[in-house]
Amino acid sequence: MKIFTYGCQMNDLDSQKLYSLLYESGWIPTESTSEADLIIINTCSVRQKAYEKAMSNIGRLRKNKSRKNSLIIGVIGCAAQQEGKNLIERFAHVDFVLGTHRLHSIPSIVDEVFLKKKTHVVDTGFSNYIPSMDIIPSPNFMQPPHRAYINIMQGCNNYCSYCIVPFVRGPEISRDYKDILDEVKLHASRGVKEVFLLGQNVNSYNGGITFHELLGMINEVDGIERIRFTTSHPKDMSDELIESFSRLVKLCPHVHLPFQSGSDRVLRYMNRHYTSEHYLGLIEKLKSKRKDIAFSSDVIVGFPLEEEADFKKTLDLIKRVRFDVLFSFKYSSRPGTSASRIPDHVPLEEKKRRLSILQKIQKRIARENLERWVGHIVEVLVDGTSKRDNSQVFGRTGQNVIVNFPGSPDLIGKSVRVRITRANPNTLTGEIA
Ligand code: SAH
Ligand code: SF4
Ligand code: F3S
Repeated sequence: MKIFTYGCQMNDLDSQKLYSLLYESGWIPTESTSEADLIIINTCSVRQKAYEKAMSNIGRLRKNKSRKNSLIIGVIGCAAQQEGKNLIERFAHVDFVLGTHRLHSIPSIVDEVFLKKKTHVVDTGFSNYIPSMDIIPSPNFMQPPHRAYINIMQGCNNYCSYCIVPFVRGPEISRDYKDILDEVKLHASRGVKEVFLLGQNVNSYNGGITFHELLGMINEVDGIERIRFTTSHPKDMSDELIESFSRLVKLCPHVHLPFQSGSDRVLRYMNRHYTSEHYLGLIEKLKSKRKDIAFSSDVIVGFPLEEEADFKKTLDLIKRVRFDVLFSFKYSSRPGTSASRIPDHVPLEEKKRRLSILQKIQKRIARENLERWVGHIVEVLVDGTSKRDNSQVFGRTGQNVIVNFPGSPDLIGKSVRVRITRANPNTLTGEIA
């Protein structure tokens, strides 16, 4: 079997779970597409480009199927949810299409296709409970095995006007906090050092306790050294959550807090429910709790109603916050969203121009932020050996910065104190302190 994965960390985790489930029912993973007897494409739909990538991959598999008729092909994930049976109409070589709430049923569907020769199975129903949230991936399929991604909630109720996620992941559903804690403890007993909590909107978590209470409980679990989470929404950043960054020793000093635009006018059209001033206030509060905190964010340029003055405000915000990492996107119209009904007056060329100006500024800021680390000693959790040079290892700081340094593979999974000697465009280089 082989799984192609597009999209965000949620899809990566879903693929880890799927590998684990299918392995249990006897399927052996392979890197080779031509060798695989079962191929699953785990799709993303957040922007047109991600969607197209998955679609052309599915298209390419047509000739694999004609060469090997027994090959089973399945499509899952957000684009599968969006398209449902349309995918079968477009790609007759696809055997099954399963939606984002149906991951758990894959082994039985695969059995039906494999044993009973069923085909063109489509199931994209939503439910009030998502069984796959409770599936725990096996350490063999966790990358790296000392970091556990844990799904604490799924879906989104925010309906930002540009975004397809609420339609393809469904409404917010939180997992019971006791199940999450059990999972954290199980991972800890297997040697996991870092837990990474995932959800489309983790700070509106509501699974019996609040999000900051959940963080507090995980902070008490023996063996866990680091806690991270993504993604949070600025409108749900409570004071208690902000306080957690000074209160909880294991909570990493890094926040991913998408701002999307620096213009209040555009934020309103985006249906984001905060102003740029509120956003900047949150950044200041977070800094006051933890002065070494790092910030990453997402931003969209060329929203249909964005004017030059709005774009300038976005640039201003970037220069004020000085994000360590910024994911920047050209607006992409998504079917069914309310923004897709607004006539888009920003030509593609103009979107590209704005994106390139923004990225040039951000590149400089990121570089300058990294240079401030030179000469400092940082704690690095080692993730693996470098692909290019096996006398080097790499890992991440609490701020989520990648550090490369000379070291042996037995450091993997351990925390090491490293003196930073050089800043590169996106990473740091150092030596054991
Ligand atoms: N739930 C998360 C992120 C979801 S998608 C959150 O709210 O922060 C990740 C990022 O993709 C978004 O933050 C946004 O910047 C970008 N994105 C979403 N829809 C988009 C669209 N239609 N066009 C361009 N970028 C988009
Ligand atoms: Fe999309 Fe907004 Fe929900 Fe994030 S908060 S997933 S951008 S609708
Ligand atoms: Fe893409 Fe779905 Fe994630 S649309 S970004 S894979 S939630």
